[in-house]
Amino acid sequence: MKPFEIGKNIFWLGAVDWNVRDFHGYSTYQGTTYNAFLIRGEKNILIDTVKQEFFSDWMDQIRLLIDPKKIDCVISNHTELDHSGSLEWVMHVIGSGKPVYCSKMGAQNLTRHFHGGLNLTAVNDGEEIKLGERTLKFLETRMLHWPDSMFTYLQEDQILFSSDAFGQHYAGTERFDDQIGEAIMPHAKKYFANILLLYSTLILKLAEKVTRMGLPIKMICPDHGVMWRKDPRKIVQAYVEWSQQKPKKKALVIYDSMWHSTQAMAEAIVESLAREGVDARPMHLRTIHRSDVMTDVLDAGAILIGSPTLNNGLFPTVADFLCYMKGLKPQNKIAAAFGSYGWSGEAVQLINQDLEEMKFRIVDPGLKIQYVPDQKGFEACHALGQKVARAFNG
Ligand code: FEO
Repeated sequence: MKPFEIGKNIFWLGAVDWNVRDFHGYSTYQGTTYNAFLIRGEKNILIDTVKQEFFSDWMDQIRLLIDPKKIDCVISNHTELDHSGSLEWVMHVIGSGKPVYCSKMGAQNLTRHFHGGLNLTAVNDGEEIKLGERTLKFLETRMLHWPDSMFTYLQEDQILFSSDAFGQHYAGTERFDDQIGEAIMPHAKKYFANILLLYSTLILKLAEKVTRMGLPIKMICPDHGVMWRKDPRKIVQAYVEWSQQKPKKKALVIYDSMWHSTQAMAEAIVESLAREGVDARPMHLRTIHRSDVMTDVLDAGAILIGSPTLNNGLFPTVADFLCYMKGLKPQNKIAAAFGSYGWSGEAVQLINQDLEEMKFRIVDPGLKIQYVPDQKGFEACHALGQKVARAFNG
């Protein structure tokens, strides 16, 4: 991939990672990109780097645009290694003593990653620096996605370099929102649901703060996926909406099964929910990846979790999913548990403990069926679906 100009003397250069399919537990079926940027002018500024394995190709891109020794400084918006992995190496090429601008937490975290040798210059929230003919304004955006994260706003060009926020794990030939259209939104939603959901409250505060500041924004350039130039407000509004977590009349029946009994229960519950007018779907945890299930959790109003009891505990995929979902702290859900068992039957209680911990409103003590559901068992599944459906209203 060759670098290209996104604004006058402002260039995208980065890496398209076509082949990554597992991004520390997140399924990236369509790869991702690591976006970095070069601003040429009286001062030449590099914003972010790429994953270390792409360093060599990335340096070739830089050399197409500039003698690397003429780069004056680097801005590190985020320490995570998909963006700072090439920092040490690029500093060796451009000159080790040159400043690396970062947030205060960035200075700590970069030190903990690279253990010295970088000329780190910490900037404050809201601070502006003049570099040549350009003014850069820094906004601290703690926890989007790490404590060190910040945005860099290029004042004269009205471009916001937003690091992870507003990104998508998507590798394609398109570089801008207008080239791909609506097809990018499911990727943006999945990214939000799996990476940023637990920071919803902070996102709403940040959106308010940026609105109050009244910064005109012509383009948002995240560090992953396509850049937003046609309508940058669209992704900001989507973030506000997703952060509000308003539940839809939608139920997910998330489960795993050993001998199809919990599966049969899940399908009967879905049938009953659908009969009551709920958008319901079964989600088998060995056929749908946890990060895709999580994307659907974002706007679902009801979460039903089903697990057989295995060795007095939860089935491993269900335990995995509950652990994953718990970490992302979804809100505003009603919930119930179910499952088949042989002799001890602890799974439903264990699920309930996790649902309580997540502060979901549990609308039924849970349904346990020994071994294989019979007619009476299916009637109990239908009754559970009906009870959950009716709980949407109260
Ligand atoms: Fe894309 Fe939090 O790194």
